[in-house]
Amino acid sequence: MKKHPESWMMSHGYNPKWSEGSVKTPIFQTSTFAFNNSTEGKRFFALAYGKDQAAEGEQLGLIYSRLNNPNMQILEERLSLWEGADEAAAFESGMSAIATTMLAYLKPGDVVLFSHPTYGGTHHFVHQVLVEFGIERIDFDPHDTYNTIHEKIEAAQAWSRVKMVYVETPANPTNDLFDLEMLNTIRNEIQLKGGHEVIFAVDNTYMGPLWQKPMDFGADVVCYSATKYLSGHSDLIAGVVVGKREHVVKVKTLRTFLGNMIAPYTAWLLTRSIETLKIRMDQQAKNALDVVAFLEAHPKVSKIYFPGSASQGEKQVALFQKQCSSAGAMISFDVVGGEEGAFRVLDHCELIKLAVSLGSNESLAQHPFSMTHADVADEEKIRLGITEGMIRLSVGIENSEDIIADLKQALEV
Ligand SMILES: Cc1ncc(COP(=O)(O)O)c(C=O)c1O
Repeated sequence: MKKHPESWMMSHGYNPKWSEGSVKTPIFQTSTFAFNNSTEGKRFFALAYGKDQAAEGEQLGLIYSRLNNPNMQILEERLSLWEGADEAAAFESGMSAIATTMLAYLKPGDVVLFSHPTYGGTHHFVHQVLVEFGIERIDFDPHDTYNTIHEKIEAAQAWSRVKMVYVETPANPTNDLFDLEMLNTIRNEIQLKGGHEVIFAVDNTYMGPLWQKPMDFGADVVCYSATKYLSGHSDLIAGVVVGKREHVVKVKTLRTFLGNMIAPYTAWLLTRSIETLKIRMDQQAKNALDVVAFLEAHPKVSKIYFPGSASQGEKQVALFQKQCSSAGAMISFDVVGGEEGAFRVLDHCELIKLAVSLGSNESLAQHPFSMTHADVADEEKIRLGITEGMIRLSVGIENSEDIIADLKQALEV
């Protein structure tokens, strides 16, 4: 396998000879697969349930679409190429990828070291759902340092109970970066002190698999809302976990019993989407730089939040240089006039759609204070730097001149 994943997105894991010469993978819209004979069926089940080890070169045969399906498998093989992961698991949503990963590793009495802010659904799952199962959390945010995180674990007497470090970086919507290398060091220390395994999981949705590679900084598993860049067309909901084999296999095993695997048609659509992932993401990042340059010079924009930009502060710039290969296509900015000023801009955009979600080929904008982060207490939003005048913009693949013209006329209303 050569180095460039984008070259393999159209073919890896599929041979046209398997399907009447069809160049593209057909949709295997079936719930179950016929065995050639009973002995074969018995063997497939023995492998699927881990009763026996696969012989050299032996593959698990197709059984039932909750366990395996060609569309899901081909998609997973291609997804693992972007980051050189051992294995990938595809889900029916980003939330199911994240929830299944957490449930696979956290038991009653365990603690998750959890970054803040995160996507609202993840925040809700950890704060409202996991607590019902007796799973606690220690929050850390972009203001925390190595020392203050240590102090928090110490104060909670949790060295023996932290079983997962979970981080979403850049933080949504402030674009603050968390130091993955530092978090990996803390994970290693917890393992040493506690004498048990601690999983390091990263939600890399905001950077997609191209611009930040958490496994290079020690992550065991990387979660994605595939609804975002991976899909890139705002036409499906899906999720992905990639990572080290033993961990992804554990997550996949729970997926089999929760039954939240990706469906054949969604897997087929997503396989189609990732053929163009690199060119879409490249264009989005290029457009974002043009848009940032415009916003920086506009008198009605009081602050820009963009990875690597000087307004994020020196430490953040250094972190960006260490951890990311591009600033991405998510820009937050403060409009003069608070909520009223931000709403005026949002309500007058014509090309840019007023909608949540991100990473798609069309530009989308929303108001984090009252929309995606409505669930976070106001004083907490202020502490984290989420202002009433903030707009979060996900830059698409349109001509950047048109995106800028749209913003210009909306800012000047
Ligand atoms: C960073 C992040 N993670 C996870 C999710 C959840 O993904 P999904 O909506 O595909 O379930 C989202 C959705 O917006 C997200 O932005």
